[in-house]
Amino acid sequence: MMTPTDDVAAKTQAGDEALLAGDPAKARALYLEALAQTNHRRRSGLVARLGFVGHHLGAALLEIQRTIEAQGHTPVFVSDGMAVWHKSNAFVQQPAFLSVVEKHAYLLPLPNWHWNLQTVLWAVLQARSLAGDFVELGVFRGHTTAVTAEHIRFASWNRRWYLYDTFNGIPEDQLNVGWSGMNETAYKGTYSYEEVRDRFAAYPNIDVIKGRVPEIFQEVCPQRIAFLHMDLNSAVAEIAALEQLYDRIVSSNRRSSIAAPAPGTAYRPARPR
Ligand SMILES: C[S@@+](CC[C@H](N)C(=O)[O-])C[C@H]1O[C@@H](n2cnc3c(N)ncnc32)[C@H](O)[C@@H]1O
Repeated sequence: MMTPTDDVAAKTQAGDEALLAGDPAKARALYLEALAQTNHRRRSGLVARLGFVGHHLGAALLEIQRTIEAQGHTPVFVSDGMAVWHKSNAFVQQPAFLSVVEKHAYLLPLPNWHWNLQTVLWAVLQARSLAGDFVELGVFRGHTTAVTAEHIRFASWNRRWYLYDTFNGIPEDQLNVGWSGMNETAYKGTYSYEEVRDRFAAYPNIDVIKGRVPEIFQEVCPQRIAFLHMDLNSAVAEIAALEQLYDRIVSSNRRSSIAAPAPGTAYRPARPR
């Protein structure tokens, strides 16, 4: 007789076969059925698999997921650029978080951003007890802030969140070496200021600001910053931003509030502060 655990395993296997055979609808249905039947460590693999469905990297990520699972390691969670196993990932047991992540996943062309979002969520909740506003440098289509703001119901918070972007990619003179092609394909004409402004229209305390970092800070800049999320993919721009903003970050939070610097950004204040 098939046990519930066997049934979950069989559905997962059938879902994998459907995904590899190019039938994402069937794969998704089977993974969701399996997910509804288990609270076990297998949830991690199922949540990860749901993120693979319909993505052009899906088959490759599934192979990594299955290779690690086959070694007997659980839980396993594979995402774009990161594979994690033997680590607690409590978010797979949090339906409210999973649902808001899935709702906004289309805003980012990278599957399974859950770990990054959990890190931002943690930092934002830390920053809640500090005086100061929130800042995101590099917004793209608003993915991270859309997920976080909705999950924490930011509209009711007595804080502002300033979102800065050119909405036209990284300025040519700030490109990291080798980034020209990526700048063209990922950012040129793929999103707009208007789209992102409208996305946050329901939040009276979120300001979407079009401009180049760091020059735009001459026009709009909060006095005190409790949370700074830097995600410009440009070391030059991020260092220039920190030169201007570092002293505005409330001092007890200077380490924990700076999230996600670009590769190559190794910032040390030029003078002791
Ligand atoms: C990695 S994406 C941001 C992703 C976003 N944080 C998210 O979570 O979805 C980088 C963004 O930084 C913006 N950017 C890069 N350099 C900039 C600069 N100097 N000033 C303003 N925006 C910039 C680009 O236009 C691009 O939208």
